[in-house]
Amino acid sequence: MSKLIVVIGATGTQGGSVVDTFLGETGWKIRGLTRNANSASAQNLKDKGVHEVVAANLDDVDSLVEAFKGAHTVFSVTDFWGLYSNPSNHEKAAAAGKAGNVYVAGVEIQQGKNVFDAAAKTDGLERLIFSGLSNATKWSKGKYPHVYHFDSKALAAEYGQKTYPDLWKKTSILQVGFYLNNVLTSPWMKPQKDENGVYVFSFSIPATVKLPLIATEEDTGPFTKALVEAAPEKNLIAYRAWQTMDEFLDIIRQVKGVKAVNKQLPSGTEWEAVPEELREELSENASYFEEFGYEGRDDPSLVHPKDLGVDVQLPSVADWVQKQDWSSVFT
Ligand SMILES: NC(=O)c1ccc[n+]([C@@H]2O[C@H](COP(=O)([O-])OP(=O)(O)OC[C@H]3O[C@@H](n4cnc5c(N)ncnc54)[C@H](OP(=O)(O)O)[C@@H]3O)[C@@H](O)[C@H]2O)c1
Repeated sequence: MSKLIVVIGATGTQGGSVVDTFLGETGWKIRGLTRNANSASAQNLKDKGVHEVVAANLDDVDSLVEAFKGAHTVFSVTDFWGLYSNPSNHEKAAAAGKAGNVYVAGVEIQQGKNVFDAAAKTDGLERLIFSGLSNATKWSKGKYPHVYHFDSKALAAEYGQKTYPDLWKKTSILQVGFYLNNVLTSPWMKPQKDENGVYVFSFSIPATVKLPLIATEEDTGPFTKALVEAAPEKNLIAYRAWQTMDEFLDIIRQVKGVKAVNKQLPSGTEWEAVPEELREELSENASYFEEFGYEGRDDPSLVHPKDLGVDVQLPSVADWVQKQDWSSVFT
């Protein structure tokens, strides 16, 4: 009998990687979840060979209970930035007298709680892999309390741990590292070409800070598979390379043969490209990385890939740079 993995966010970056990995595994069936089973991305999943594509919504716990039925494993991801980019959430935030990021953090916490509530009702569930991030408020000892998109995921996981001890024994947290493709997709991280033809990257993260860099669209699946194979109750910081942004930029220069510099932005409120209400959050985020680690390095439950007991073989960052279409960046 095949085992069933239910993948939240199957049409997205993290979940899409999980789908790709498990499509290549014998003995597994995949149920991909989406809000709209008739969308082009849902059709794409069916065309790829995903066995079931089912509608469910993270805001609707009953839809998750239904969608999780029969699962051996559930992979869960919640999407802070998707919520933030939805104008209706800004209307709701304004009506509630809250900043947009504060409001959507509350929604994301509830969505994560919904996943735990539904998973706790799933007979036969063996593993929940919950895509989380570290609790910046907690691991900075209160110094950085505004990194909402980190804390929201951590708070949902803490709810799961406290509320469902039996489910927690089958759960692992997958802390996905800093996406390499942020430099291609993030409006705040794309480089600008200066008058001398030099591409200016403006990372706000200090040059000396090593980050867990990950090719999310390729690596989330292999790490999820490893967490299914490993004993549960892991808190894995997942990455392809542990590098500074300057080291990453060196690789880009070498592989692409472009002139590029890292004009590091001072942390603070001088980020013109960033909406004002996000500046404090992103500034604290960078300081948190520097002083306490992306992963909240003092968290005693943390596990690095080499300590997982399951070998995860990934290509290099240079391979990733080589593979990308940089035409929208290097013009
Ligand atoms: N950028 C980084 O460096 C970084 C690093 C670590 C973690 N993260 C986190 O990664 C998360 C985003 O993950 P991603 O990159 O995989 O996002 P993505 O590519 O934008 O995909 C989002 C997925 O979530 C699904 N989804 C959204 N709202 C839903 C809802 N209400 N119910 C059910 N499904 C829903 C979407 O499915 P449908 O549209 O088909 O419904 C889609 O498949 C964010 O929370 C971010 O904080 C980012």
